[in-house]
Amino acid sequence: MSMRLGIVGCGAIGTIHAAAAGRQGVKVVRAWDIHASRAKALCESHGGKACASLDDLLSMKEIDAVVVAVPNNLHAPLAIQALRAGKHVLLEKPMAMSMAECREIASEAAKAKRVLEIGFVCRGAPAARAVKHFIDAGRFGTISHIKCASYRRRGVPGLGGWFTTKAVSGGGALIDLGVHILDLSLYLAGSPRPTHASGHVFSGIGSRMRDYVYTSMWAGPPTLDGVCDVEDGATALVRCEGGLTIEMNVFWAANLPEGQLNDGITVLGDRAGGSFQVFGKSAKIATEEEGRLVDLTPHFACEDPDREMWDAQYKQFRAAVEQGVPPHADAAAGIRVQSVVEAIYASAAAGHEVAVRPA
Ligand SMILES: NC(=O)c1ccc[n+]([C@@H]2O[C@H](COP(=O)([O-])OP(=O)(O)OC[C@H]3O[C@@H](n4cnc5c(N)ncnc54)[C@H](O)[C@@H]3O)[C@@H](O)[C@H]2O)c1
Repeated sequence: MSMRLGIVGCGAIGTIHAAAAGRQGVKVVRAWDIHASRAKALCESHGGKACASLDDLLSMKEIDAVVVAVPNNLHAPLAIQALRAGKHVLLEKPMAMSMAECREIASEAAKAKRVLEIGFVCRGAPAARAVKHFIDAGRFGTISHIKCASYRRRGVPGLGGWFTTKAVSGGGALIDLGVHILDLSLYLAGSPRPTHASGHVFSGIGSRMRDYVYTSMWAGPPTLDGVCDVEDGATALVRCEGGLTIEMNVFWAANLPEGQLNDGITVLGDRAGGSFQVFGKSAKIATEEEGRLVDLTPHFACEDPDREMWDAQYKQFRAAVEQGVPPHADAAAGIRVQSVVEAIYASAAAGHEVAVRPA
């Protein structure tokens, strides 16, 4: 019988999880949210039943695995509770609010001998997979630099709500978008150990929330009398063991013209260079072939990059639970990214480069 799932947190992303699970033959059995109506709505669309409490969900023997898709400050306590109840866990990003919390979750997963996958879903994006394939085949040679950027035109999530309240989210654009592209960059480069970071954070929207113009709002609508005490942009240079450098830029509200965001990932190696947009349908690579530098557009079937990225995550999570293969993004990846995030904030506060604490 295929894996059966419980969903904890039935907001914007919990609902996307339920849809992706269903497409991969994973049955949603129960869902729980502190807002009962959200769990009910998710189950009406994707199957399963809304639970009366988290304990009810975790005590069900029929549930093999749990998705934790709640605000960031609840990642550690709820993931640990699920692991202690013997469930495999797919934990949304960021892994937790601190390295200490990340390590505690990882150690619970090891103790419980359960799969712990971190929701770095961008690893499954078709363009990222195509470029990773070339890198793993040695076509890029030694990778010296990766430039990664994630810009939203006007996309502060849930302005005034938990995403922009530091005590609940742990931070702003860096925690929300930056963790995805930092993880993806490190993953593409073969997971080198980050050693130093120099970063800066930008905050402006918190002081002008009432006249913030937006077109759509993730986890919205805005709470105009709410809190916004996190950064809305961050920039950093991260140095890694072996010489790789990663330049990262993230902005929730880049205010760039439509279609001109120029974000994505650029990978520079000593044999090839390439770039792609995370949600793009193509990638471009220039590489050595028969003594010449040639431009390639790797062919890969791709209809809906966003959907296919989610499907890849569920395919891998299901294989990890059912066949014991490694999860796509494991606890070490979550801790590594957290170590860089903490170093970027520390550097921004200190005004100079800092060492990244070993993961
Ligand atoms: N993988 C991605 O691309 C991606 C995208 C967006 C968000 N996320 C992550 O997913 C998580 C959820 O984000 P979201 O956008 O769905 O936010 P959201 O606000 O839309 O949903 C969060 C849900 O959690 C519920 N909740 C709060 N406390 C709870 C508790 N104690 N028990 C059960 N439910 C509780 C809320 O009622 C809400 O329905 C965050 O960690 C966020 O960083 C990941």
